[in-house]
Amino acid sequence: MSGARSFGQCGSVLVTGASRGIGLQMVDSLAGGGFPPGKILATTRNPDGAKKLQDLALKHPNIHIIPLDVLSQESIDTCVEEVSRLVQEEGLNCLINNAGINVRSDFHTVTADKMVENFRTNAVAPLMITKAFLPLLKAAASRGGAAGSGSMSIQRAAVINISSQLGSVALNWGETANVKEYPYRTSKCALNMVSRCMATDLGLDGILCLAMHPGWVHTDMGGSQAPLSPEDTIPSMLSVIGGLSVKDHGSFVSFCGEVLPW
Ligand SMILES: NC(=O)c1ccc[n+]([C@@H]2O[C@H](COP(=O)([O-])OP(=O)(O)OC[C@H]3O[C@@H](n4cnc5c(N)ncnc54)[C@H](OP(=O)(O)O)[C@@H]3O)[C@@H](O)[C@H]2O)c1
Repeated sequence: MSGARSFGQCGSVLVTGASRGIGLQMVDSLAGGGFPPGKILATTRNPDGAKKLQDLALKHPNIHIIPLDVLSQESIDTCVEEVSRLVQEEGLNCLINNAGINVRSDFHTVTADKMVENFRTNAVAPLMITKAFLPLLKAAASRGGAAGSGSMSIQRAAVINISSQLGSVALNWGETANVKEYPYRTSKCALNMVSRCMATDLGLDGILCLAMHPGWVHTDMGGSQAPLSPEDTIPSMLSVIGGLSVKDHGSFVSFCGEVLPW
């Protein structure tokens, strides 16, 4: 858990899709893991319905629940305004684009609408969210972070896109090609390219960008057959994220830090 210590020196972390599953567990582990960031900005499209998240916020005053529907530009802009009021000139240190959907369909059942629906949430939204938060990420990066300017880390500024190994073209062959999910696989493949493109653009401002596969995790999306529980996996993910440095910029890694092929 050494990397997770870095969160204790991180002013702010924003997690999208924090109502349940991996996002909710990230907020829980960040707040209760022993090295809490200054502010945890937990976004959900329906704060009133996010009971477990509300309970966490009652226990941990550094959790701020903010409404965000990742498909609405108006909602994104309002979220940026609210985050801006909370973090002020310190900016936003770490943006975790976690919200996602899986519009399940194989070759025979896939339609154009299903492809576009999955693409909008999983690939377009993280790009639009990152664009909207860029001024706050730049503000954080310009302050240098705990390791000083010239470094790259979550203590300075970082964008973590929660992708999937199902988005890897290289791994979609042989046995691993058994998951026939056209909309999901292609949307995560596109997110991987978005991550790599953003790494070349935002790296110039000292903002670390990467795509991360969280493992096959038991959530509403992952299903009950998934071998990993959120409680086991997310601390490992946070440890990897906390330990990221310039050498990881622009890469695609798993929750245990293994570099994955595109
Ligand atoms: N579980 C796995 O095995 C696995 C494996 C690889 C990658 N991933 C990725 O990990 C991320 C989290 O997955 P999960 O397993 O935690 O899924 P999940 O349990 O289905 O949770 C998805 C989260 O995304 C939110 N969301 C969906 N559409 C949204 C929108 N338009 N605006 C705002 N929030 C939205 C949901 O909010 P609501 O509660 O409002 O619906 C929910 O909080 C996803 O990007 C997923 O692709 C998961």
